[in-house]
Amino acid sequence: MSDKFKIAIFSSGNGSNFEAIVKANIPNVEVSLLFCNMKDAHVLERAKNLSIESIFISHKEYDSRKEFETEIISRIEKFNIQLIVLAGFKRILSPFFTSHYEKKVINLHPSLLPAFTGLHAPRQAIDYGAKYSGCTVHYVDEGVDTGPIITQGLVEIEDVDTEATLIEKIHEKEHEILPRAIQLIAEDKCVLQGRRVLIKN
Ligand code: GAR
Repeated sequence: MSDKFKIAIFSSGNGSNFEAIVKANIPNVEVSLLFCNMKDAHVLERAKNLSIESIFISHKEYDSRKEFETEIISRIEKFNIQLIVLAGFKRILSPFFTSHYEKKVINLHPSLLPAFTGLHAPRQAIDYGAKYSGCTVHYVDEGVDTGPIITQGLVEIEDVDTEATLIEKIHEKEHEILPRAIQLIAEDKCVLQGRRVLIKN
C-alpha cells in the first residue's frame, strides 16, 4: 500500500478542477477517488481518461441527506481518505457528514469570501459592480461557504467582462490555488488558530 497522502475529490459537473489536481502531480499526494452524484457529469469521463477510480451515487435515490451521506461514507471508508476536496460539488453536505470528517473537508468557491456566497458567485460579483473577485479554498464547517480560509486568488473584473469571461478567469486561478492548498495540507503546513489558517514555513 502506498504511503502517500490520500485524497478524494467530489465533483458534480465539468471537472476542470478535478483534472487540474490530477495533472498537478502534487508530490506525495494520491488522488484515490472521484466521487460524483450526477450521472451525466463530464467529470466521470475525465476520471476514466485519467485512470482514477470513480464512485457514482445519485442523491435522488435517497429519502434523506443523512441516508445519502451514510452511503457515501460506507463506500469511501475503505480508501482511508485523509482529505476530501469539494471541487464543484453541487450538494450541501450536512454536519452529519462534515463532523465524520472533521477538518478533513475543503471547498473551492468562485469568489473572494466572505463576499458572494452561494450560487452564481461570479454573476453576483459582476451585478454588484465589484472591480475584483477571485476564488477561495476553505475548510468546510457547518455553514455554507463560511469555514476558515486557507488561500485565495485574485482576479480583476474589467468593464468588458461578462459572466462567462469572468468564470474563465476564475477557473484559471482556481487551477493554480487548489493544488497548492492541497499540497500545504498534505505537508501539514496549515495551522488552525480560531478562524485563521496560519501557514508554516
Ligand atoms: C468552480 O468554479 C468552483 O469554484 C465552483 O464550481 C466550479 C466547478 O468547475 N463551485 C461552486 O460554485 C461551489 N459553490 P469545474 O467542474 O470545472 O471544476
